[in-house]
Amino acid sequence: MQLKIYKTHHDLSDAAANEIVELVNCKSNPVLCLASGDTPKLTCRLFVEKAKSQQLDLSNLTFIGLDEWVGVPPENNGSCHYFFRHELLDPLDFPVKNVYLFDAMSGDLQDECRKMDNAILEKGGIDLMIVGIGMNGHVGFNEPGVLFGNYSHVIDLDETTISVGQKYFKTPVNLQKGITLGLNHLQHSKKVLMLANGEKKSGVIKKTIEDEVSPAFPASIMQTHANGLVMVDEAAAGLLKH
Ligand code: F6R
Repeated sequence: MQLKIYKTHHDLSDAAANEIVELVNCKSNPVLCLASGDTPKLTCRLFVEKAKSQQLDLSNLTFIGLDEWVGVPPENNGSCHYFFRHELLDPLDFPVKNVYLFDAMSGDLQDECRKMDNAILEKGGIDLMIVGIGMNGHVGFNEPGVLFGNYSHVIDLDETTISVGQKYFKTPVNLQKGITLGLNHLQHSKKVLMLANGEKKSGVIKKTIEDEVSPAFPASIMQTHANGLVMVDEAAAGLLKH
């Protein structure tokens, strides 16, 4: 794992967007997996700008959504689905056939997990995974205590996730469960970027990098990834020893 500290959120978002550009330019059938949320929003916007100005050919790019709130419909603007559509896929006229998002309204969520795992396998694995970090150290909806060996699964959301998650919604929502790629997918992704910005993330970034690797703090798995890069702005790096 490597750590890179950028002056601002914009600088780190620009660098992350360039990583996606490089992926598209260098690989014939690239597979990108992205988290939603406040952190990667600017990365998405900058990537959309770059893709348009550089007229990138995205026809062979596969897009995988990292997770979704169970029971929240795609048209709800707090859903991950809505984020992916509005921040990335629609502005790029992204080919629908290359998009894999969990249907968190499905009556058979186990089948959703199976379909996602099979799709990732068929596509030859994830080339670039870009994740954020939750205030409890979660990655995707891999909550504290999760097994590192998990593939896609449905999980009870942690108290912190339930309360912090309200920020995405216009009115309070009953959040109980999430459906998410597992940390096994992260471990097997060819490259992983973990993005964090702002002082509020400084405590969790310190734990991610300086504490022992443990399922009690899922983000610590980044330490074990040979091609993992933690990208933070100066505010999020504020509590690091070095
Ligand atoms: C969302 C996701 C979550 C977020 C995390 C940080 O798809 O996977 O793990 O990355 O909760 O969220 P923000 O970026 O809003 O601070």
